[in-house]
Amino acid sequence: MSNVKECRQSGGNSSEKAYRVSSIGTEELGHLEMIGAIVHQLTRNLSREQIMNSGFAPYYVDHTTGIYPTAASGFPWTAASMQSKGDPITDLHENLAAEQKARTTYDNILRMCDDPDVRDPIKFLRARELVHYQRFGEALRLTTDRLDVKNFYAFNPAFDK
Ligand SMILES: [Fe+2]
Repeated sequence: MSNVKECRQSGGNSSEKAYRVSSIGTEELGHLEMIGAIVHQLTRNLSREQIMNSGFAPYYVDHTTGIYPTAASGFPWTAASMQSKGDPITDLHENLAAEQKARTTYDNILRMCDDPDVRDPIKFLRARELVHYQRFGEALRLTTDRLDVKNFYAFNPAFDK
């Protein structure tokens, strides 16, 4: 099956697919804003007792109730947690893994949280990660379909021609 035919069957041409993949990064920044808003709303009116008894005290000492992006374990977000190898096959696999890790994180939050004002946006974000996973999977398939060697692990399609 040709790439063009395959793309038409799945609802778009390859340039549209590339656009969809490139817009995922922009959407992820919006997700960060949503998570920040949720954390702000959950912490802005905490009492001293709630801070002391909720496990929030170490965060509060360092950041008061300001939004400081960290993992649940307290590890601060850093660009070092992102990867870019400059090889589309490698990077698409990294992106696929990142989407699944995000879904797992949301699943874990949903198992622990019964607040509908948190659960509903988390469910929305989880659904978007599934869409992102699908888009990256389509991009990976389009990338490997275009290779003209049987062993596509033999070279970097963005660098080696
Ligand atoms: Fe995502």
